[in-house]
Amino acid sequence: MTDMPPGDKAPLSDSALDQLFRTARTYNRFTDKPVPKALLQAVYDLMKWGSTSANCQPARILFLTSNEAKERLKPHLDEGNVKKTMAAPVTALIGHDLAFYEHLPEQYPAADAKSWFVGDNQKIAETAFRNGTLQGAYFMLAARALGLDCGPMSGFNTEGATKEFFAGTKTQANFLCNLGYGSEDGTYPRGPRLTFDQACQIL
Ligand SMILES: Cc1cc2nc3c(=O)[nH]c(=O)nc-3n(C[C@H](O)[C@H](O)[C@H](O)COP(=O)(O)O)c2cc1C
Repeated sequence: MTDMPPGDKAPLSDSALDQLFRTARTYNRFTDKPVPKALLQAVYDLMKWGSTSANCQPARILFLTSNEAKERLKPHLDEGNVKKTMAAPVTALIGHDLAFYEHLPEQYPAADAKSWFVGDNQKIAETAFRNGTLQGAYFMLAARALGLDCGPMSGFNTEGATKEFFAGTKTQANFLCNLGYGSEDGTYPRGPRLTFDQACQIL
């Protein structure tokens, strides 16, 4: 890992920016090329560096790779997401742990951050959802940076999936992301994006 001084960084290359953003697509179909377990670990080991408030890191990820694991997810998927999810090499179930603050004494030694959350359920829920979703985005960028393609989905019953996969914990399902090597015929026509003027203001 390089430790470049602040203010001394060059922009990433155009090809890196293309891979991460400009040509990165949502894939509905993947080739049969398998995704090694070591690559899934590498995705986590990259995404984990993305910033979260008080370094709270609430995201919890289940990588569903076996038929057995996929069959457990199937009844909770929206109809339109079943076929592609069952066929994808990997489906990541991204959740957030409402007990994230238990790790703060170790993960945020700068302050007694655990005490900011204990007993405040609304703050816990908001913090877990906000930062878990951010980590989900870091996850997709890390996967794309390492050469994988993504198929994110929110079309599933989060309550059902939470009961099925996170029973006995305080983790709640947030979204799914199929992973693999995308097929050329696996995307819809690219949708446009809002312009700077439509989405932003400089005040
Ligand atoms: C959080 C999230 C949830 C999504 N849910 C679904 C879904 O349930 N089913 C589906 O077919 N596509 C889903 N999509 C795919 C989006 O429609 C797609 O990312 C968007 O149209 C942009 O496509 P592009 O990445 O190819 O430009 C989802 C994407 C995201 C980021």
